[in-house]
Amino acid sequence: MNKNIISFVLSLVPLLCLCLDTDTLTSNITFRDSDTIISGGHVFKLGFFSPVNTTNRYLAVFYNVSEKTTVWIANRDRPLNDSSGTVTFSRNGNLVLTNGRNETLWSTNVTGTYPRNTSAQIQNNGNFVLSDTSTRSIIWESFSHPSDVFLPTMRISDNIYTGHKMVIPAWKNESDPEPGSWIGGLEALNVPQIFIWNNGRPYWRSGPWNGMILSGVPDMYSPYLALFSLWNDTTGTFYMTPHELRFLTRYSLNSTGNIETTMWNNQQRKWDVTWVAVQNECDVYQTCGPFGSCNIRDSPICSCTRGFEPVNNEEWESGNWTSGCARRRQLSCEQSNNTSGNRDGFLRLRFTKVPDFAERFPSSQPDVCRTRCMSNCSCIAYAHDSYIGCMSWSEPLVDFQMFNGVGIDLFLRLEASELDNHSDRMLVIIIPVVVGFAAISFVMIIAWFWNKRKGKRFAKSAIVFKDESEKANVEELPLFSFEILSNATNQFHENHLLGRGGFGFVYKGYLENGKVIAVKRLSTASGQGTEEFMNEVVVISKLQHRNLVRLIGCCVEGEEKMLIYEYMPNKSLDGCLFDPNHLSHKILDWKKRFSIIESIGRGLMYLHKDSILKIIHRDLKPSNVLLDEDWNPKISDFGMARIFGGNEDFDNTSRVVGTYGYMAPEYAMEGRFSEKSDVYSFGVLMLEIISGKKNTHYYNQELSLSLLGCAWKLWNEENCLNFVDQTIESSNFEGEIVRCIHIALLCIQEFPNERPSIQTILSMISREIINLQMPKQPVFAEKWNRSHVGTITTQRSSPVGYPCSNDLTITVLDGR
Ligand SMILES: *[C@@H]1O[C@H](CO)[C@@H](O)[C@H](O)[C@H]1NC(C)=O
Ligand SMILES: *[C@@H]1O[C@H](CO)[C@@H](O)[C@H](O)[C@H]1NC(C)=O
Ligand SMILES: *[C@@H]1O[C@H](CO)[C@@H](O)[C@H](O)[C@H]1NC(C)=O
Ligand SMILES: *[C@@H]1O[C@H](CO)[C@@H](O)[C@H](O)[C@H]1NC(C)=O
Ligand SMILES: *[C@@H]1O[C@H](CO)[C@@H](O)[C@H](O)[C@H]1NC(C)=O
Ligand SMILES: *[C@@H]1O[C@H](CO)[C@@H](O)[C@H](O)[C@H]1NC(C)=O
Ligand SMILES: *[C@@H]1O[C@H](CO)[C@@H](O)[C@H](O)[C@H]1NC(C)=O
Ligand SMILES: *[C@@H]1O[C@H](CO)[C@@H](O)[C@H](O)[C@H]1NC(C)=O
Ligand SMILES: *[C@@H]1O[C@H](CO)[C@@H](O)[C@H](O)[C@H]1NC(C)=O
Ligand SMILES: *[C@@H]1O[C@H](CO)[C@@H](O)[C@H](O)[C@H]1NC(C)=O
Ligand SMILES: *[C@@H]1O[C@H](CO)[C@@H](O)[C@H](O)[C@H]1NC(C)=O
Ligand SMILES: *[C@@H]1O[C@H](CO)[C@@H](O)[C@H](O)[C@H]1NC(C)=O
Repeated sequence: MNKNIISFVLSLVPLLCLCLDTDTLTSNITFRDSDTIISGGHVFKLGFFSPVNTTNRYLAVFYNVSEKTTVWIANRDRPLNDSSGTVTFSRNGNLVLTNGRNETLWSTNVTGTYPRNTSAQIQNNGNFVLSDTSTRSIIWESFSHPSDVFLPTMRISDNIYTGHKMVIPAWKNESDPEPGSWIGGLEALNVPQIFIWNNGRPYWRSGPWNGMILSGVPDMYSPYLALFSLWNDTTGTFYMTPHELRFLTRYSLNSTGNIETTMWNNQQRKWDVTWVAVQNECDVYQTCGPFGSCNIRDSPICSCTRGFEPVNNEEWESGNWTSGCARRRQLSCEQSNNTSGNRDGFLRLRFTKVPDFAERFPSSQPDVCRTRCMSNCSCIAYAHDSYIGCMSWSEPLVDFQMFNGVGIDLFLRLEASELDNHSDRMLVIIIPVVVGFAAISFVMIIAWFWNKRKGKRFAKSAIVFKDESEKANVEELPLFSFEILSNATNQFHENHLLGRGGFGFVYKGYLENGKVIAVKRLSTASGQGTEEFMNEVVVISKLQHRNLVRLIGCCVEGEEKMLIYEYMPNKSLDGCLFDPNHLSHKILDWKKRFSIIESIGRGLMYLHKDSILKIIHRDLKPSNVLLDEDWNPKISDFGMARIFGGNEDFDNTSRVVGTYGYMAPEYAMEGRFSEKSDVYSFGVLMLEIISGKKNTHYYNQELSLSLLGCAWKLWNEENCLNFVDQTIESSNFEGEIVRCIHIALLCIQEFPNERPSIQTILSMISREIINLQMPKQPVFAEKWNRSHVGTITTQRSSPVGYPCSNDLTITVLDGR
């Protein structure tokens, strides 16, 4: 028989399949190539499978929704070359896979010769277990023999005494599941880390586990995420397991040596890659050699830190960094053979992925780490983390990276003169306000997926017609031709670009009659048809309120979809609020700010309650609030989620509806939204308007409180005026300001039902309601600490000391 016929026949197999309506194999069943069993919740199946470009058959566990995606394979290195495979139970209870010639290709191979009755079950977490029917104990499970996939509730492990590891071996290539040269696993000695090894040599390293996250993975720095747990038992074995998420998630080591996190996109019925371990050259182990530091934003990416120079200049210049850097001046403790080493100091490197081979010493005091390191001449660097304690290094520093805004501070021992003779010793930088944002793609992605999965349903349920008679008539809204808009914006020239919103670019345009307009050119990703789109737009255009930006027309031609708005001369609130040099910043005195808060509230109230549609904005933030010539705020981008239907990502990148920092926790984490999630965003917005600062998230030791935490702390200390923007003359309005902060704190409560409705908020602001409830500590107020792991409902300790000052500058280099 020729190969094509075989594969044709095999391709028919699923159709002929006699799916056994059970999740369990018992000894009276003979399980053949065409059979499958499915787990109780219909998530996983056990059956036979062929990888791409091969007709070889393997016994495997795969997803019900995606039968080509396996999570476990039995006969990885002994494929069947036809469909003659059968699974039976041997006399001693083992499960055995045999081919047509009765040769054993695979067996559970549990020792014990005595006869016993067993059964094998495929569980809903993907685990395939063999248990003794009389004792009901599990005698074998597929989770203890992992293939290339690490699933929620599965464990990998490492014993620090024996070195025995349970690892994830990758496939040889996409057509051959045989274990290849790549292995992923846990290395628990000293400080636990995850590694990818190639032929036993490290290729990627996650950085130390700090009780919550892998500290060398910037994408994990987010308070929303508790992705893994790590624990140990008394035998010295450390275990790590991914938490179960609300959507199908797999962490797999692919055959080219990268860990991919993939999530099932139920709408598009495909797997989407949401994160990969090795994203750039800096992530490759030891790219810059010993003492070389890697920073992906620099060019070249490798550099020697201060006090060091390339070992081989020529190689280094040519981009071969493997031999690394060497110390320029010997440490004084080495020179004098004097262990006290008083002439040495430490250079502070902020935001690093710390080097490999850390030694650990438990201590809560950073000073203890310093003293210990100073007193030992072989200690060349130290770091402190509140969970790990002291880390110190006595071997050449390898594989360290500089991050932006997240990471651990590393203190590098240098000879004193290296620290002194630099004029830039106290280099002061401004931390960009966007710092934390780069680090949270993980959570964005998760929120995105959740939204994608649920998007359609939400989009429908979020906005309901109060009156079915409000069906739109397309003729009512002015239609502009593409040509007119193109001319008005000088062919969408970048000089006309006003900004980039969540759903496309916005241009300023001049119509021939002299009227100034704002043209929002939507990305083409909307899944809607033209008629549906127009209907939505017409309905949205009927919403009219003085605190909403007015839609004056639209344009639909081919792939192009554009919305035309009135032009707002004072641009967006974030422009004038967060730019201290901007003149308008000073125009915003307290009275203006108060009225802006009130007006935004009224606009929101209209959306939630008063309009013909009930609209949840879902992305309320300063850049979506525009200011007219009299500084009246107008909410923009309302109804966009509706216009975009369920397909919320405006382009094919991972963009969510909603912006980190403004999203309520239940929305970000679980995709649940309601009017109360808009109230949360409104609370954040209020605090930003009052303080003139952006709600940023720092997870570094000293900069750890967010704006929300700062508000909470100062409010508790009855020190609210320190929270207020310095440019505001606040002394005359103290009562009003304190009240506004109080209301804002009520808006950002953790649980939606503890937040007031927008109606109540307006009554509070206007003092129709005098007595306000006491707020509880808002969510995300505090820096991460261990009490947050796994649960966000536990009682938290009171905030730690934090300088909630207006000073955004920090020192990066601190040689003592
Ligand atoms: C196999 O045995 C189990 C009990 O051990 C029984 O419930 C089941 O019906 C039997 N299946 C068949 C196909 O005989
Ligand atoms: C499992 O797959 C079958 C067939 O592919 C399908 O009919 C069924 O709905 C799936 N179950 C779930 C829970 O997705
Ligand atoms: C499978 O084979 C086709 C044709 O030979 C080739 O184009 C494709 O890249 C192969 N796929 C994989 C995953 O190797
Ligand atoms: C499968 O492999 C066996 C040897 O293990 C060989 O004898 C047999 O001919 C092969 N069958 C096919 C269809 O290639
Ligand atoms: C397969 O071999 C086993 C012993 O290895 C034997 O007990 C069994 O009867 C054989 N089955 C067939 C179908 O020949
Ligand atoms: C079963 O395990 C023994 C050692 O415990 C090993 O020698 C043997 O090759 C294994 N058999 C199979 C089929 O894996
Ligand atoms: C296994 O089950 C069979 C039939 O149910 C029974 O006759 C036999 O005694 C059982 N064997 C053991 C070891 O329990
Ligand atoms: C995969 O590896 C096997 C050998 O292990 C080789 O025969 C086969 O050609 C490879 N397939 C691809 C697509 O590289
Ligand atoms: C393992 O955990 C226990 C607490 O459960 C702890 O006392 C012990 O020191 C740990 N062992 C190691 C080697 O860290
Ligand atoms: C492995 O993952 C990386 C990152 O997603 C990807 O670039 C690469 O193509 C993948 N390799 C295979 C064989 O799928
Ligand atoms: C880089 O330098 C090392 C050490 O000198 C040498 O062994 C290696 O071959 C060089 N690599 C390349 C790509 O030139
Ligand atoms: C320091 O001690 C080493 C041997 O331990 C010796 O070779 C060296 O000369 C000493 N240096 C000084 C400055 O004493």
